[in-house]
Amino acid sequence: MRIGLNKFFAVVAALIAFCPAAEAQIVSDSSIEYVPTKENIVSRQEFADAGFGIFLHWGIYSMFAQGEWYLNRQGVLHEEYAKAAGGFYPAGFDAKEWVSAFKKAGAKYICFTTRHHDGFSMFATKHSQYNIVEATPWGKDVLKELADECHRQGIRLHLYYSLVDWGRDDYPMGRTGQTTGKDKSKADWNSYCKFMTDQLTELLTNYGEIGAIWFDGVWDHDTDATVFDWQMRPIYDHIHSLQPSCLVANNHHLNVSNGEDIQVFERDLPGENKGGYSGNMDISVLPLETCETMNGIWGYRITDQNYKSLDEIVRLLVGAAGKGANLLLNIGPQADGRLPEVALQRLEQVGTWLAKYGETIYATTAGDVPVQSWGATTRKGDRLFVHVWDDSLRELFLPIDAKVKSAKDFASGEKVKYDRCSHGVHLTLPQKSDTTSPERVIELQLR
Ligand code: GLC
Repeated sequence: MRIGLNKFFAVVAALIAFCPAAEAQIVSDSSIEYVPTKENIVSRQEFADAGFGIFLHWGIYSMFAQGEWYLNRQGVLHEEYAKAAGGFYPAGFDAKEWVSAFKKAGAKYICFTTRHHDGFSMFATKHSQYNIVEATPWGKDVLKELADECHRQGIRLHLYYSLVDWGRDDYPMGRTGQTTGKDKSKADWNSYCKFMTDQLTELLTNYGEIGAIWFDGVWDHDTDATVFDWQMRPIYDHIHSLQPSCLVANNHHLNVSNGEDIQVFERDLPGENKGGYSGNMDISVLPLETCETMNGIWGYRITDQNYKSLDEIVRLLVGAAGKGANLLLNIGPQADGRLPEVALQRLEQVGTWLAKYGETIYATTAGDVPVQSWGATTRKGDRLFVHVWDDSLRELFLPIDAKVKSAKDFASGEKVKYDRCSHGVHLTLPQKSDTTSPERVIELQLR
Protein backbone atom coordinates (compact mmCIF):
# COMPACT_ATOMS: atom_id res chain seq x y z
CA MET A 1 0.00 0.00 0.00
CA ARG A 2 1.35 3.42 -0.90
CA ILE A 3 0.52 6.44 1.22
CA GLY A 4 1.39 10.05 0.48
CA LEU A 5 3.98 11.82 2.64
CA ASN A 6 1.42 14.16 4.20
CA LYS A 7 -0.77 11.25 5.11
CA PHE A 8 2.22 9.45 6.65
CA PHE A 9 3.02 12.42 8.93
CA ALA A 10 -0.66 12.71 9.84
CA VAL A 11 -0.66 9.05 10.94
CA VAL A 12 2.51 9.52 13.00
CA ALA A 13 1.08 12.67 14.61
CA ALA A 14 -2.13 10.84 15.45
CA LEU A 15 -0.20 7.96 17.01
CA ILE A 16 1.76 10.35 19.21
CA ALA A 17 -1.42 12.16 20.25
CA PHE A 18 -3.04 8.87 21.25
CA CYS A 19 -0.11 7.94 23.44
CA PRO A 20 -0.10 10.54 26.22
CA ALA A 21 2.81 8.89 27.98
CA ALA A 22 4.95 9.03 24.82
CA GLU A 23 7.15 11.74 26.25
CA ALA A 24 7.92 9.88 29.44
CA GLN A 25 8.16 6.50 27.80
CA ILE A 26 11.61 5.14 27.24
CA VAL A 27 11.91 2.68 24.44
CA SER A 28 15.03 0.60 24.61
CA ASP A 29 16.09 -2.90 23.88
CA SER A 30 18.60 -4.28 26.35
CA SER A 31 19.87 -6.83 23.85
CA ILE A 32 21.15 -4.06 21.57
CA GLU A 33 24.86 -3.50 22.07
CA TYR A 34 25.48 -0.11 23.70
CA VAL A 35 27.73 2.12 21.65
CA PRO A 36 29.02 5.14 23.61
CA THR A 37 28.95 8.47 21.79
CA LYS A 38 32.05 10.52 21.04
CA GLU A 39 31.27 12.89 23.94
CA ASN A 40 30.96 9.90 26.21
CA ILE A 41 34.36 8.55 25.21
CA VAL A 42 35.93 11.96 25.89
CA SER A 43 34.20 12.08 29.27
CA ARG A 44 35.47 8.59 30.12
CA GLN A 45 39.03 9.70 29.40
CA GLU A 46 38.61 12.86 31.50
CA PHE A 47 37.29 10.69 34.28
CA ALA A 48 40.14 8.20 33.99
CA ASP A 49 42.64 11.08 34.17
CA ALA A 50 40.96 12.61 37.23
CA GLY A 51 42.60 10.26 39.74
CA PHE A 52 40.91 11.57 42.85
CA GLY A 53 37.34 12.45 43.81
CA ILE A 54 35.40 13.22 46.97
CA PHE A 55 32.28 11.24 47.88
CA LEU A 56 29.71 12.99 50.09
CA HIS A 57 27.04 11.17 52.05
CA TRP A 58 24.74 13.84 53.39
CA GLY A 59 21.06 13.66 54.21
CA ILE A 60 18.61 13.87 57.10
CA TYR A 61 20.29 10.73 58.49
CA SER A 62 23.21 13.04 59.39
CA MET A 63 20.95 14.46 62.14
CA PHE A 64 20.78 11.10 63.93
CA ALA A 65 24.58 10.96 63.59
CA GLN A 66 24.59 7.16 63.36
CA GLY A 67 25.50 6.67 59.72
CA GLU A 68 23.30 6.54 56.61
CA TRP A 69 21.73 3.14 57.42
CA TYR A 70 20.24 4.32 60.73
CA LEU A 71 16.61 3.96 59.58
CA ASN A 72 17.09 0.35 58.60
CA ARG A 73 19.54 -0.72 61.29
CA GLN A 74 17.59 0.68 64.24
CA GLY A 75 14.29 -0.74 63.05
CA VAL A 76 12.80 2.76 63.04
CA LEU A 77 9.46 3.38 61.32
CA HIS A 78 9.89 5.47 58.22
CA GLU A 79 6.96 7.67 59.15
CA GLU A 80 8.68 8.64 62.42
CA TYR A 81 12.13 8.98 60.85
CA ALA A 82 10.77 11.32 58.17
CA LYS A 83 9.79 13.84 60.87
CA ALA A 84 13.48 14.66 61.29
CA ALA A 85 13.19 16.59 58.02
CA GLY A 86 11.14 19.16 59.95
CA GLY A 87 14.26 20.04 61.94
CA PHE A 88 16.85 19.97 59.17
CA TYR A 89 18.44 23.40 59.09
CA PRO A 90 22.10 23.19 57.98
CA ALA A 91 23.02 26.77 58.80
CA GLY A 92 26.72 26.00 58.39
CA PHE A 93 26.39 24.78 54.80
CA ASP A 94 28.44 26.81 52.38
CA ALA A 95 28.85 25.33 48.91
CA LYS A 96 31.76 27.62 48.16
CA GLU A 97 33.65 26.50 51.25
CA TRP A 98 33.05 22.82 50.45
CA VAL A 99 34.06 23.01 46.81
CA SER A 100 37.11 25.16 47.60
CA ALA A 101 38.28 22.64 50.21
CA PHE A 102 37.86 19.73 47.76
CA LYS A 103 39.64 21.59 44.99
CA LYS A 104 42.49 22.52 47.30
CA ALA A 105 42.73 18.86 48.28
CA GLY A 106 43.44 18.05 44.64
CA ALA A 107 40.10 16.36 43.96
CA LYS A 108 38.90 16.61 40.37
CA TYR A 109 35.33 15.56 41.02
CA ILE A 110 32.66 15.29 43.68
CA CYS A 111 30.00 12.59 44.00
CA PHE A 112 26.99 13.79 45.99
CA THR A 113 24.16 11.67 47.44
CA THR A 114 21.03 13.15 45.86
CA ARG A 115 18.80 10.46 47.34
CA HIS A 116 19.95 7.64 49.60
CA HIS A 117 18.08 4.50 50.70
CA ASP A 118 15.98 6.54 53.16
CA GLY A 119 14.34 8.05 50.07
CA PHE A 120 14.89 11.67 51.08
CA SER A 121 15.65 13.87 48.06
CA MET A 122 18.42 16.39 48.69
CA PHE A 123 17.22 18.44 45.71
CA ALA A 124 14.12 20.22 44.42
CA THR A 125 11.83 17.62 42.92
CA LYS A 126 8.25 17.72 41.71
CA HIS A 127 7.90 13.98 42.13
CA SER A 128 8.06 13.66 45.93
CA GLN A 129 7.34 16.16 48.69
CA TYR A 130 9.88 14.38 50.85
CA ASN A 131 12.64 16.70 49.69
CA ILE A 132 14.95 19.34 51.12
CA VAL A 133 13.02 22.28 49.70
CA GLU A 134 9.52 21.29 50.75
CA ALA A 135 10.03 19.17 53.86
CA THR A 136 12.63 21.19 55.78
CA PRO A 137 12.66 24.65 57.35
CA TRP A 138 15.92 25.23 55.45
CA GLY A 139 13.91 25.22 52.23
CA LYS A 140 16.85 25.58 49.85
CA ASP A 141 18.05 23.33 47.06
CA VAL A 142 21.54 22.38 48.27
CA LEU A 143 22.22 20.46 45.10
CA LYS A 144 21.64 23.60 43.04
CA GLU A 145 24.07 25.55 45.21
CA LEU A 146 26.63 22.77 44.99
CA ALA A 147 26.19 22.29 41.23
CA ASP A 148 26.51 26.03 40.54
CA GLU A 149 29.66 26.17 42.65
CA CYS A 150 31.17 23.09 40.97
CA HIS A 151 30.55 24.61 37.56
CA ARG A 152 31.97 27.95 38.73
CA GLN A 153 35.13 26.35 40.12
CA GLY A 154 35.49 23.85 37.27
CA ILE A 155 35.14 20.56 39.12
CA ARG A 156 33.10 17.61 37.82
CA LEU A 157 29.87 16.77 39.59
CA HIS A 158 28.72 13.18 39.90
CA LEU A 159 25.39 12.23 41.43
CA TYR A 160 24.79 9.24 43.65
CA TYR A 161 21.25 7.88 43.28
CA SER A 162 19.83 5.00 45.32
CA LEU A 163 17.73 2.39 43.58
CA VAL A 164 16.50 1.22 46.96
CA ASP A 165 13.81 3.07 48.89
CA TRP A 166 13.01 2.20 52.51
CA GLY A 167 9.96 4.47 52.58
CA ARG A 168 8.03 4.18 49.31
CA ASP A 169 5.54 1.35 49.10
CA ASP A 170 5.89 1.07 45.34
CA TYR A 171 9.57 0.07 45.61
CA PRO A 172 9.44 -3.74 45.56
CA MET A 173 11.03 -4.59 48.90
CA GLY A 174 14.32 -6.46 48.84
CA ARG A 175 16.32 -7.91 51.72
CA THR A 176 16.67 -4.53 53.50
CA GLY A 177 14.05 -2.06 54.74
CA GLN A 178 11.88 -4.85 56.15
CA THR A 179 11.18 -3.08 59.43
CA THR A 180 10.44 0.47 58.31
CA GLY A 181 6.67 -0.05 58.06
CA LYS A 182 6.24 -0.44 54.31
CA ASP A 183 3.19 -2.12 52.83
CA LYS A 184 4.60 -4.95 50.73
CA SER A 185 1.32 -5.51 48.91
CA LYS A 186 1.61 -2.08 47.25
CA ALA A 187 4.85 -2.87 45.41
CA ASP A 188 4.56 -1.54 41.87
CA TRP A 189 7.68 -1.58 39.75
CA ASN A 190 6.20 0.48 36.89
CA SER A 191 5.18 3.26 39.24
CA TYR A 192 8.56 3.21 41.02
CA CYS A 193 10.53 3.09 37.80
CA LYS A 194 8.56 6.05 36.43
CA PHE A 195 9.30 7.96 39.64
CA MET A 196 13.05 7.29 39.34
CA THR A 197 13.05 8.16 35.66
CA ASP A 198 11.26 11.44 36.34
CA GLN A 199 13.74 12.32 39.09
CA LEU A 200 16.69 11.45 36.88
CA THR A 201 15.23 13.73 34.22
CA GLU A 202 15.20 16.54 36.78
CA LEU A 203 18.77 15.79 37.87
CA LEU A 204 19.98 15.80 34.29
CA THR A 205 18.12 18.90 33.15
CA ASN A 206 18.15 21.30 36.12
CA TYR A 207 21.77 21.20 37.26
CA GLY A 208 23.91 21.74 34.18
CA GLU A 209 26.50 19.23 33.08
CA ILE A 210 26.58 16.08 35.19
CA GLY A 211 29.73 13.95 35.01
CA ALA A 212 28.15 10.69 36.13
CA ILE A 213 25.11 9.07 37.69
CA TRP A 214 26.30 6.64 40.38
CA PHE A 215 23.67 4.02 41.17
CA ASP A 216 23.61 1.94 44.32
CA GLY A 217 21.35 -0.79 45.66
CA VAL A 218 21.04 -3.56 43.07
CA TRP A 219 22.44 -5.84 45.80
CA ASP A 220 19.15 -5.38 47.69
CA HIS A 221 17.70 -8.03 45.42
CA ASP A 222 20.66 -10.41 45.35
CA THR A 223 18.69 -13.16 47.10
CA ASP A 224 15.95 -13.10 44.42
CA ALA A 225 18.21 -12.01 41.56
CA THR A 226 17.04 -14.83 39.31
CA VAL A 227 13.49 -13.51 39.29
CA PHE A 228 13.85 -9.80 40.01
CA ASP A 229 14.74 -7.73 36.95
CA TRP A 230 15.97 -4.19 37.61
CA GLN A 231 15.50 -3.28 33.93
CA MET A 232 18.40 -0.85 34.13
CA ARG A 233 19.09 -0.59 30.42
CA PRO A 234 16.17 1.74 29.57
CA ILE A 235 17.22 3.93 32.49
CA TYR A 236 20.83 3.98 31.25
CA ASP A 237 19.63 4.87 27.74
CA HIS A 238 17.47 7.62 29.17
CA ILE A 239 20.50 9.14 30.93
CA HIS A 240 22.58 9.00 27.76
CA SER A 241 19.80 10.52 25.71
CA LEU A 242 19.58 13.49 28.09
CA GLN A 243 23.34 13.96 28.48
CA PRO A 244 25.45 11.76 26.22
CA SER A 245 28.64 12.59 28.09
CA CYS A 246 27.18 11.59 31.46
CA LEU A 247 28.85 8.39 32.63
CA VAL A 248 26.77 5.60 34.10
CA ALA A 249 28.16 3.78 37.14
CA ASN A 250 26.43 1.08 39.13
CA ASN A 251 27.70 -0.15 42.48
CA HIS A 252 25.99 -3.53 42.04
CA HIS A 253 29.05 -5.58 43.07
CA LEU A 254 28.74 -7.53 39.81
CA ASN A 255 30.45 -7.51 36.44
CA VAL A 256 29.68 -4.44 34.31
CA SER A 257 26.71 -4.64 32.04
CA ASN A 258 25.72 -3.16 28.70
CA GLY A 259 25.12 0.59 29.03
CA GLU A 260 27.56 1.27 31.87
CA ASP A 261 30.54 3.53 31.24
CA ILE A 262 32.76 3.01 34.27
CA GLN A 263 33.31 0.22 36.77
CA VAL A 264 33.13 0.91 40.49
CA PHE A 265 34.49 -1.11 43.39
CA GLU A 266 33.34 -0.62 46.96
CA ARG A 267 36.06 -0.62 49.64
CA ASP A 268 38.34 -2.71 47.45
CA LEU A 269 40.98 -1.99 44.90
CA PRO A 270 40.13 -3.67 41.60
CA GLY A 271 40.98 -7.35 41.90
CA GLU A 272 40.73 -7.45 45.71
CA ASN A 273 37.92 -8.72 47.87
CA LYS A 274 38.83 -7.53 51.36
CA GLY A 275 35.53 -5.75 51.88
CA GLY A 276 33.57 -8.82 50.82
CA TYR A 277 31.66 -6.96 48.09
CA SER A 278 33.88 -7.63 45.10
CA GLY A 279 33.99 -11.42 44.98
CA ASN A 280 31.85 -11.61 41.84
CA MET A 281 33.66 -8.93 39.89
CA ASP A 282 36.16 -9.23 37.06
CA ILE A 283 38.15 -6.14 36.16
CA SER A 284 36.67 -4.67 32.98
CA VAL A 285 38.28 -2.52 30.29
CA LEU A 286 36.20 0.48 31.40
CA PRO A 287 37.67 3.28 33.53
CA LEU A 288 37.83 2.14 37.15
CA GLU A 289 37.02 3.68 40.50
CA THR A 290 37.39 2.51 44.10
CA CYS A 291 35.38 4.16 46.84
CA GLU A 292 36.47 4.21 50.47
CA THR A 293 35.56 6.20 53.54
CA MET A 294 37.86 8.57 55.40
CA ASN A 295 36.76 6.96 58.66
CA GLY A 296 34.67 3.78 59.04
CA ILE A 297 31.25 4.69 57.65
CA TRP A 298 29.73 6.76 54.84
CA GLY A 299 27.21 9.03 56.59
CA TYR A 300 28.21 11.14 59.62
CA ARG A 301 28.55 9.07 62.77
CA ILE A 302 29.29 10.84 66.00
CA THR A 303 31.19 7.93 67.56
CA ASP A 304 33.42 7.25 64.57
CA GLN A 305 36.61 9.25 64.98
CA ASN A 306 38.64 6.54 63.34
CA TYR A 307 39.91 8.74 60.52
CA LYS A 308 42.58 7.41 58.24
CA SER A 309 45.98 9.04 58.52
CA LEU A 310 47.60 10.90 55.64
CA ASP A 311 49.85 7.85 55.14
CA GLU A 312 46.86 5.57 54.80
CA ILE A 313 45.06 7.90 52.41
CA VAL A 314 48.13 8.33 50.20
CA ARG A 315 48.57 4.57 50.15
CA LEU A 316 44.96 4.15 49.05
CA LEU A 317 45.33 6.79 46.37
CA VAL A 318 48.61 5.39 45.06
CA GLY A 319 47.33 1.82 45.33
CA ALA A 320 44.29 2.76 43.25
CA ALA A 321 46.42 4.62 40.69
CA GLY A 322 48.74 1.61 40.55
CA LYS A 323 45.73 -0.42 39.48
CA GLY A 324 44.65 2.21 36.97
CA ALA A 325 41.75 3.31 39.18
CA ASN A 326 40.55 6.58 40.71
CA LEU A 327 40.05 6.91 44.43
CA LEU A 328 36.66 8.26 45.49
CA LEU A 329 37.23 9.21 49.13
CA ASN A 330 34.15 9.70 51.29
CA ILE A 331 33.34 12.35 53.87
CA GLY A 332 30.13 12.42 55.91
CA PRO A 333 29.25 16.09 56.51
CA GLN A 334 27.60 17.01 59.83
CA ALA A 335 23.90 17.85 60.10
CA ASP A 336 24.79 21.52 60.50
CA GLY A 337 26.27 21.48 57.00
CA ARG A 338 29.89 21.62 58.14
CA LEU A 339 32.57 19.16 57.22
CA PRO A 340 34.09 17.42 60.25
CA GLU A 341 37.26 19.13 61.47
CA VAL A 342 39.48 16.06 61.03
CA ALA A 343 38.20 15.59 57.46
CA LEU A 344 39.15 19.19 56.69
CA GLN A 345 42.64 18.61 58.11
CA ARG A 346 43.11 15.48 56.00
CA LEU A 347 41.90 17.29 52.89
CA GLU A 348 44.51 19.94 53.45
CA GLN A 349 47.26 17.37 53.98
CA VAL A 350 46.30 15.39 50.87
CA GLY A 351 46.20 18.64 48.91
CA THR A 352 49.73 19.55 50.01
CA TRP A 353 50.95 16.09 49.03
CA LEU A 354 49.16 16.13 45.65
CA ALA A 355 50.48 19.60 44.86
CA LYS A 356 53.96 18.00 44.89
CA TYR A 357 53.22 14.49 43.65
CA GLY A 358 50.07 14.93 41.52
CA GLU A 359 52.18 14.46 38.40
CA THR A 360 52.68 10.83 39.43
CA ILE A 361 48.93 10.23 39.94
CA TYR A 362 46.78 12.32 37.56
CA ALA A 363 46.48 11.11 33.98
CA THR A 364 48.58 8.04 34.68
CA THR A 365 47.81 4.42 33.95
CA ALA A 366 48.67 1.36 36.00
CA GLY A 367 52.44 0.93 36.01
CA ASP A 368 54.47 -1.97 34.64
CA VAL A 369 54.76 -3.70 38.01
CA PRO A 370 51.50 -4.67 39.77
CA VAL A 371 50.83 -3.31 43.27
CA GLN A 372 53.17 -4.91 45.82
CA SER A 373 53.51 -4.88 49.59
CA TRP A 374 56.40 -2.38 49.24
CA GLY A 375 54.45 0.00 46.96
CA ALA A 376 53.03 0.53 43.50
CA THR A 377 53.94 1.85 40.06
CA THR A 378 52.18 4.32 37.78
CA ARG A 379 52.97 5.19 34.20
CA LYS A 380 52.72 8.33 32.07
CA GLY A 381 54.05 7.91 28.52
CA ASP A 382 57.64 6.74 28.83
CA ARG A 383 57.90 7.73 32.50
CA LEU A 384 57.48 5.07 35.14
CA PHE A 385 56.87 6.25 38.71
CA VAL A 386 57.93 3.82 41.38
CA HIS A 387 56.14 4.58 44.66
CA VAL A 388 57.91 3.01 47.61
CA TRP A 389 55.95 2.85 50.88
CA ASP A 390 58.52 0.91 52.82
CA ASP A 391 61.03 3.50 54.11
CA SER A 392 63.54 0.86 55.17
CA LEU A 393 63.90 -0.67 51.72
CA ARG A 394 67.39 -0.05 50.25
CA GLU A 395 67.32 -2.22 47.13
CA LEU A 396 64.52 -2.91 44.69
CA PHE A 397 64.29 -5.24 41.73
CA LEU A 398 61.67 -4.40 39.09
CA PRO A 399 60.83 -7.15 36.60
CA ILE A 400 60.19 -4.88 33.61
CA ASP A 401 60.83 -5.39 29.91
CA ALA A 402 61.31 -1.75 29.00
CA LYS A 403 64.88 -0.39 28.94
CA VAL A 404 65.69 2.36 31.44
CA LYS A 405 67.35 5.54 30.16
CA SER A 406 67.70 7.35 33.48
CA ALA A 407 66.43 7.25 37.05
CA LYS A 408 65.91 10.03 39.60
CA ASP A 409 64.43 10.77 42.98
CA PHE A 410 61.17 12.53 42.03
CA ALA A 411 61.28 14.92 45.01
CA SER A 412 64.92 16.02 44.90
CA GLY A 413 65.72 15.40 41.24
CA GLU A 414 68.92 13.58 42.36
CA LYS A 415 70.11 10.73 40.16
CA VAL A 416 69.32 7.24 41.38
CA LYS A 417 71.71 4.33 40.79
CA TYR A 418 70.30 1.49 38.70
CA ASP A 419 71.66 -1.64 37.06
CA ARG A 420 70.15 -3.47 34.19
CA CYS A 421 69.93 -7.21 34.63
CA SER A 422 68.54 -9.99 32.50
CA HIS A 423 64.90 -9.76 33.57
CA GLY A 424 64.57 -6.14 34.59
CA VAL A 425 66.26 -3.41 36.53
CA HIS A 426 67.81 -3.22 39.95
CA LEU A 427 67.50 0.08 41.88
CA THR A 428 69.65 1.26 44.77
CA LEU A 429 67.13 3.34 46.66
CA PRO A 430 68.20 6.69 48.12
CA GLN A 431 67.26 7.85 51.63
CA LYS A 432 63.95 9.65 51.77
CA SER A 433 64.61 13.21 50.59
CA ASP A 434 61.12 14.51 51.41
CA THR A 435 60.33 13.61 55.00
CA THR A 436 56.86 15.15 54.74
CA SER A 437 55.81 12.53 52.20
CA PRO A 438 54.49 9.13 53.26
CA GLU A 439 56.47 7.53 50.43
CA ARG A 440 59.51 7.84 48.18
CA VAL A 441 58.93 8.19 44.46
CA ILE A 442 61.60 7.17 41.94
CA GLU A 443 61.04 8.27 38.38
CA LEU A 444 62.40 6.08 35.61
CA GLN A 445 62.73 7.47 32.14
CA LEU A 446 62.18 4.58 29.74
CA ARG A 447 63.47 4.24 26.20
C1 GLC B 1 26.78 0.66 50.21
C2 GLC B 1 25.86 1.23 51.27
C3 GLC B 1 25.68 2.66 51.17
C4 GLC B 1 26.78 3.49 50.63
C5 GLC B 1 27.51 2.81 49.51
C6 GLC B 1 28.75 3.57 49.09
O1 GLC B 1 26.14 0.25 49.10
O2 GLC B 1 24.62 0.66 51.25
O3 GLC B 1 25.20 3.17 52.35
O4 GLC B 1 26.19 4.61 50.12
O5 GLC B 1 27.82 1.54 49.84
O6 GLC B 1 29.57 2.81 48.33
